[in-house]
Amino acid sequence: MKSEFDFLIIGSGIAGLTYAIKVANQLPNAKIAIVTKADEKESNTKYAQGGIAVVIDEISDSYEQHVNDTLKSGDGLCKKEIVEIVVNEGPQRFNELVEWGVNFDKQKDGEYNLGLEGGHSKNRILHHKDITGFEIEETLLKQVYKNANIHLFSEHFAIDLITEHHLDSKSENHLCYGAYIFDAATQEIIPFTSKITLLATGGIGQVYQNTTNPTIATGDGIAMAYRAKIKIESMEFIQFHPTALYHSTTNPSFLISEAVRGFGALLRDKSGELFMHHYDDRKELASRDIVSRAIDSELKKSGDECVYLDCRHLNMTQFKKHFPNILQKMQEIGIDLKKEMIPVVPAAHYLCGGISVNEFGQSSIQNLYACGECTYTGLHGANRLASNSLLEALV
Ligand code: FAD
Ligand code: SIN
Repeated sequence: MKSEFDFLIIGSGIAGLTYAIKVANQLPNAKIAIVTKADEKESNTKYAQGGIAVVIDEISDSYEQHVNDTLKSGDGLCKKEIVEIVVNEGPQRFNELVEWGVNFDKQKDGEYNLGLEGGHSKNRILHHKDITGFEIEETLLKQVYKNANIHLFSEHFAIDLITEHHLDSKSENHLCYGAYIFDAATQEIIPFTSKITLLATGGIGQVYQNTTNPTIATGDGIAMAYRAKIKIESMEFIQFHPTALYHSTTNPSFLISEAVRGFGALLRDKSGELFMHHYDDRKELASRDIVSRAIDSELKKSGDECVYLDCRHLNMTQFKKHFPNILQKMQEIGIDLKKEMIPVVPAAHYLCGGISVNEFGQSSIQNLYACGECTYTGLHGANRLASNSLLEALV
């Protein structure tokens, strides 16, 4: 059996779904396939908590400040021109999400409620409570279901790209013709051919023992690209999120959003001492690499297994409004946030490198594009600024 399409999209997170919707809207006659290896909702996107970093209030914030925060977080290794494109296009892409029906939290006065996360000099995180990714994934899928020219294949696992690289490894002029897809129901491998192929296969967190990423995050797209001799960059820059719940038996680790520290939560050691002031003037709201390394250093000095996130002083009525999912999880595992601290450890969270693409998502071979966490665009440098990845995938 063979399936022929104009566009083949591999992955059904924010990167793959938004690309599909846009192609379908612009080219109503194009035949578009989305293949995804598990249930179509399963993705890193579904678990995103904090939100999307966008300059939405140009009075209190500016594009320049978002650009500078991104560059500082990336530790001198970001591509400035890419940072500027992503930050400047943010509001347009955000408004598209709103037009498609994604709900973002607003204040009583009707203005968006803007959260704060590490490394940001301003409140600019647009969010849907603490389940922003779930809201985005559900809404984008509804748009996809409405489009008659998008064919969605769940439980279809991409195995390898169809290219000429096996025939002539020296040629610079490789083309991509689609991918070999394993249908879990029929146990058949089917060549899906296409004029354009997009890899949107997400990250690699599951390569690590402790990760916030769901089990789909095994770097398949990057491996396929590597086997097809496509350029890969910056794979050494793995971001560890500072505050995954310390609960040794669960995979993935449950995330305690950085927005909780933005809301005022403090990091303490086992004896209750604050320690972040020893590492950075921004304390709990330094960028993620700094906070994760600080925790690691404290744990190595003390020999303890975790540090603690203290929410006891926070306004619990407001906390419940912003973080109902985190609060529910704490109740389920018997932690009373008014009296007890949350045990946390850093966990593998995000891949800053990946398939090398230009500002249009073009890879180093023809007709093969990539988008989202599986790529290296140059936006993140050595360390991604919080909530810049949903934004990058959209842009
Ligand atoms: P994904 O959403 O991971 O989608 C990848 C898709 O590819 C999945 O559908 C998967 O099944 C499919 N796939 C993979 N391999 C194959 C294969 N071989 N064949 C077929 N299909 C395949 N970022 C932010 O900006 N803000 C946040 O608040 C935030 N919070 C986060 C919280 C958590 C717990 C996690 C894990 C991440 C968070 N991130 C956040 C990061 C962000 O969610 C991801 O970087 C982003 O969602 C990636 O989107 P994507 O579309 O590139 O990949
Ligand atoms: C979080 O909510 O802390 C995750 C944000 C991100 O990964 O950008």
